[in-house]
Amino acid sequence: MNVLLIGAGGREHAFAWKIAQSPHFARLLCVPGNTGTGSYGQNVPFPLSDFEALVDLAQREAIDLVVVGPDNPLGDGIVDAFQAAGVPAFGPTAAAARIESSKAFAKEVMAATGVPTASAHVFERPADAEAFARASGRPWVVKADGLALGKGVVVPDDLPETLAAIAQLGATPAGHRLLLEERLYGREVSVLALCDGQRLLPLPTARDHKRLGEGDTGPNTGGMGVVAPVDEVSPALLDQIVASCMQPVVNELARRGTPFRGVLYAGIILTADGPKVLEYNARFGDPEAQAVLPLIEGDFLEVLYDCAVGNLRPEKLRRRKGYAVCVVLCAEGYPGKPRKGDPIRGVEAIDDDKVLVFHAGTAIGPNGLCTAGGRVLGVTGLGSTLARARARAYEAAERIRFDGKHYRRDIGKE
Ligand code: AMP
Ligand code: GLY
Repeated sequence: MNVLLIGAGGREHAFAWKIAQSPHFARLLCVPGNTGTGSYGQNVPFPLSDFEALVDLAQREAIDLVVVGPDNPLGDGIVDAFQAAGVPAFGPTAAAARIESSKAFAKEVMAATGVPTASAHVFERPADAEAFARASGRPWVVKADGLALGKGVVVPDDLPETLAAIAQLGATPAGHRLLLEERLYGREVSVLALCDGQRLLPLPTARDHKRLGEGDTGPNTGGMGVVAPVDEVSPALLDQIVASCMQPVVNELARRGTPFRGVLYAGIILTADGPKVLEYNARFGDPEAQAVLPLIEGDFLEVLYDCAVGNLRPEKLRRRKGYAVCVVLCAEGYPGKPRKGDPIRGVEAIDDDKVLVFHAGTAIGPNGLCTAGGRVLGVTGLGSTLARARARAYEAAERIRFDGKHYRRDIGKE
């Protein structure tokens, strides 16, 4: 199969690595790709917004399957464009991706199907949200309706912080509509499941670490590290989460004529009242993919194709025993404006089949590999125990050197 991969992060490097292991794999094109995807095929520096040109490229290059990583092109209808041209694409259409791209839509679907989630109020104008919050006299979780690069949620401790968050998010494009949500308490877990429009195939559970600082402190980031699987989620609890928090939404989207094909990612909070949904994503997480993909065995490319054409066969993938810990190495300045161009040393010297180094923000400069983005590399350690996986990831993370390197040292430490 000839594959066109869309995206440029560590997630896409992990996809390329996994896809290239398939006996069906022939050739990879990646738009725009990165240093990591470049070692499995050809990177094509194309704008992601020009769907017509991308469809042309796919047809010219005899692409058999398009695999879309990031949320923005999905929300904009990239899969619709390929489908209309008869090119199979892994990922939801814009209508199905609304489960991520509009939090108000996601709430409406959850309410219609009885999926457990925080109760929420939707406001078309920030002034109405403000009046509601003031009248209630208490804090609310404030969410922007649209895609906001992980910056669309504020969890305030009191009413003044709530009002400040309404003003702040209400002034962003994603905050054209706001949600005020009841605050839930509990440990969080990410459940990702492949979906062909009807059936769900859950992948190993994962826990992301979104805050910059150790002990979950500091500003939010795209994700600083991931542990998979999460032991608190027993097989019975996973079945319960899929049955009560995911399958009803898949059924409802199919019933409405907009079936969900791709990967459905449920952000779950384990409350005293049982698991509840915080949000859905319509794609793999990054760095979640860098920990989850190494834990599955089987022909991943074939399964992506099967999802895209509506014929998922769950027996095609197996779960590997053991654990994965992914630690993200960041550049000076991240999550603000990262410094670029710092030479990276030590990646080639890592020679352990239980350590994977995924490129995110790197480039090949005049003097070799250098930093080129905020999240620079994802270092995944594998092991039969969480402690072994963690030790491998951190040993490698230390051996990789670049000026300004920073990372959390508590990923997977309970
Ligand atoms: P989301 O993008 O909706 O997953 O929100 C990002 C983060 O905000 C989540 O991972 C939670 O830590 C937190 N969060 C979102 N909604 C709630 C809620 N209703 N109660 C408590 N925390 C929340
Ligand atoms: N790591 C969080 C996300 O990809 O949404």
